[in-house]
Amino acid sequence: MSDFESLNLTRNKNKIADLKILKGSLGPDVIDIRQLYNQTGLFTYDPSYGATSSCESSITFIDGDKGILLYRGYPIEQLAKNSTFLEVAYLLLNGELPNKENYKIFSHNIINHTMVNEQFLNFYQGFRRDAHPMAILCAATGAMSAFYNDSADINDPQQRIIASNRLIAKIPTLAAMAYKYSIGQPFIYPDNNLSYPENFLKMCFSVPTQKYKSQKILSDAIEKIFILHADHEQNASTSTVRLAGSSGANPFACISAGIASLWGPAHGGANEAVLNMLNEIQNSDNISKFLKKARDKDDPFRLFGFGHRVYKNYDPRATEMQKTCHEVLDLLGIKKNPLLSLAMKLEKIALEDEYFIERKLYPNVDFYSGIILQAIGFPTSMFTVLFAVARTVGWVAQWKEMIEDPNQRIGRPRQLYTGPKKRNYLKIEKRN
Ligand code: CMC
Repeated sequence: MSDFESLNLTRNKNKIADLKILKGSLGPDVIDIRQLYNQTGLFTYDPSYGATSSCESSITFIDGDKGILLYRGYPIEQLAKNSTFLEVAYLLLNGELPNKENYKIFSHNIINHTMVNEQFLNFYQGFRRDAHPMAILCAATGAMSAFYNDSADINDPQQRIIASNRLIAKIPTLAAMAYKYSIGQPFIYPDNNLSYPENFLKMCFSVPTQKYKSQKILSDAIEKIFILHADHEQNASTSTVRLAGSSGANPFACISAGIASLWGPAHGGANEAVLNMLNEIQNSDNISKFLKKARDKDDPFRLFGFGHRVYKNYDPRATEMQKTCHEVLDLLGIKKNPLLSLAMKLEKIALEDEYFIERKLYPNVDFYSGIILQAIGFPTSMFTVLFAVARTVGWVAQWKEMIEDPNQRIGRPRQLYTGPKKRNYLKIEKRN
């Protein structure tokens, strides 16, 4: 980050502030407003942070107008095609792709720490069988601070690494357990001979009574889904993790906060919402009725899987996801998947619709991911859970970056107060 020029603010023709303009390596320059209040007595107003950089970060870059997504400078398309999820995890955490030796050590550290404390089995027994797996995951991740308190000291760099590795290693196990619990099947222990995505699929789909056969095409699809979802700059859940972490809260609690934020249908919950919406639309004859609802300002319905706060062009992750979707369905022999054909028709009609064109609303990553996950055999309630498993890497990388930033302070937004002015307390008998 460097400053190269300043911005003079005037009010009634009088200069009131002289603010620095900071330049990053890519993307728009930013006005450094940290001295604004001292110089002018004014705050800024940006309720959903649409125009505010909340931090300095060197992890992920998005150019929403051009549809570009880079992890540490590497285009997402190249990573999705050539890399593994654990290699991407190393990249996000450490800034560079690993050499062979570093990759071996990192993979070993993750793959060999997939088992969770046996007491978790009892912890899970406390949930109702019909609990949503996101509710279980949120609670289980927060509970990791009770089980792994020996790595919860954020001021110890070694403990930070152990906590990060534990989170990345154990979140698939906790997620698979949430699924198994909800369908009344026994928990399956992780198998450290398998790759990260293979192991996750096995923990979800194997049963003790049958020999489990892993299918490469499915684990490759999960690998790709995990890579595409691994990080996405300062979105709602990542900002939640950073804000929770800025108070010094332990990393397990911060990731649990991130999972809660991801759950909403405007964010990670959209992949579940897309499938529910497609099921509701039922067939292409009903598309125009649903598009009408989406256009109607008085109707809260939105076309799930469309639109993005940052992308005003095709979401590059959606392009990759669409390819994977076709591959998976072809290889599973699902040539004529009615949901996929409905999704394709919906996509085509929406992309030609004036309302969507004007607002630059394109399909996002969640539009296709749900169809793939359903074809693999996941129920809709697990879709956002898979997103959380993948995003844990990004959250951890962003949390570590924040904690290791020497300028880090507790996050504390201000407000534009519009409530009553100061007034005196009235005893109850004197109130109307
Ligand atoms: N369907 C209908 N109208 C929409 C949609 C949609 N999916 N998305 C945005 N709009 C309209 C919106 O009503 C507004 O119209 P107007 O200018 O007339 O008021 C305009 O487009 C701009 O939208 P916005 O609400 O200012 O956009 P936002 O940045 O606040 O919201 C969003 C972004 C992703 C929450 C929103 O597009 C949305 O709700 N999409 C559906 C949910 C979804 O697919 N979410 C997944 C996001 S990608 C995964 C992730 O990274 O979490």
